[in-house]
Amino acid sequence: MIQEIKSIRPIVDDSLKQVFIETYGCQMNVNDSEVVLAILQECGYALCDSIGKADLILVNTCSIRENAEQRIFGRLDIFRLEKKRRKGLIVGVIGCMAERMKDQLLEHPVVDIVVGPDAYRSLPELLLAVNPGNKQIDVKLSRTETYDDITPVRMDKNGVSAYISIMRGCNNVCSYCIVPYTRGAERSRDPQTIIREAKELYANGYKEVNLLGQNVDSYRWKGESENDNVDFAKLLEMVAQIAPDLRVRFSTSHPKDMTADVVKMMAKYPNICKHIHLPVQSGSSDMLLKMNRKYDREKYLSQIATIRELIPDCSITTDVIVGFSGESEEDYQLTLSLFEEVKFDSAFMFYYSERPGTKASRHYPDDISIEVKTERLNKIIELQNKLSLESNKADVGKVFEVLIEGASKRSESQLIGRTSQNKVCVFTTDKHKAGDYATVRVTSCTSATLMAELI
Ligand code: SAH
Ligand code: SF4
Ligand code: F3S
Repeated sequence: MIQEIKSIRPIVDDSLKQVFIETYGCQMNVNDSEVVLAILQECGYALCDSIGKADLILVNTCSIRENAEQRIFGRLDIFRLEKKRRKGLIVGVIGCMAERMKDQLLEHPVVDIVVGPDAYRSLPELLLAVNPGNKQIDVKLSRTETYDDITPVRMDKNGVSAYISIMRGCNNVCSYCIVPYTRGAERSRDPQTIIREAKELYANGYKEVNLLGQNVDSYRWKGESENDNVDFAKLLEMVAQIAPDLRVRFSTSHPKDMTADVVKMMAKYPNICKHIHLPVQSGSSDMLLKMNRKYDREKYLSQIATIRELIPDCSITTDVIVGFSGESEEDYQLTLSLFEEVKFDSAFMFYYSERPGTKASRHYPDDISIEVKTERLNKIIELQNKLSLESNKADVGKVFEVLIEGASKRSESQLIGRTSQNKVCVFTTDKHKAGDYATVRVTSCTSATLMAELI
């Protein structure tokens, strides 16, 4: 019997009302936009590819740092021009900034609708009610919403890799971080719905799923009986067993919660990618305490040792914040020395941006000057570039299986694939297409890319 495969791709239909969705921030937001599109398609909208065609513009926003929000205000100015040209155009702000700023955003002259991350189901109703004199807002947070019955409409280009949110919110209250306020309390999603979604993706040709949560190690599902309980290690196994050629990735791991069970599960299944993103934030235990990260330098390094021992070829990446309140030169040097010691394969590096309402904004002065923050950031970026180059150089001569994501920008016969370690690999072939696996040997590299040949 031929099973009908439900399309998870956007409907293209000029006769329907057109929505344009612009997404900022983390992978979570990218996936939320896909949930939002699913909700909008149900009520008669189709996705379009430019603001010029749109009846509705939605901007899915991020509040993580001040400059992320400034960018959005810049976009709103652009939408204002578009609105002047076309009466009836609706502009909605959704996501984390909607949640953080609430009515303050609604007062902005171009904004018609404000919807927080847990309120997307009310979009159809709000869209019916909205008109120029009648702005709409819903920023209620939920303790239970996981959108687990909604099949996201996939907006990625290649149809190879997709995000699956396995949980929402965060209970960690790191003192600098706005996420617990914009995304609410942590809740895990029913594992059966996660498996169903992963299978659906696989049936649609996807070859990689990326399981998302702010702290995947605290994923927990309480089943009917003790035996039905699912923790993150178990969930990884369930997803890995769907198909041997479906790759499984995940982020973000938290150093305080990551267990050896998870690392062992990664080692057990070849299709669970050998890459852990383990944000350190600082190499100084004093800073970590003040950040409320609930681990110190030693604990972090022992987690790294566990990974290295159980999966010698695992890549490790991180996030770091320099210039947090009171960060001394000595604290900063500890961060640099930790980077040297761990030798991260790559890192996202930021300087501290104070966020209104967080514990740090209430109790710790933002007392490192912008000059010092910039200098520290530049120096750590320079160090990481060196480490990334070293990490890539160590791969020259080695053989990897890569999952092909598509053509490189330069040429059609040059394809881009990713190693299990999440490194981008460029090579020439006329035998393969996006979604295929290929075996390659690395011939040279830069700090960002591996160049390889097909074998
Ligand atoms: N849940 C993930 C991170 C989510 S935010 C975790 O716990 O690691 C992504 C990254 O943004 C963080 O890891 C941190 O490095 C950075 N970040 C968060 N708040 C910040 C702030 N106020 N200023 C600068 N960077 C910040
Ligand atoms: Fe923010 Fe900390 Fe939660 Fe990550 S774990 S989202 S840094 S509060
Ligand atoms: Fe993500 Fe930014 Fe919100 S990082 S959770 S979109 S504040």
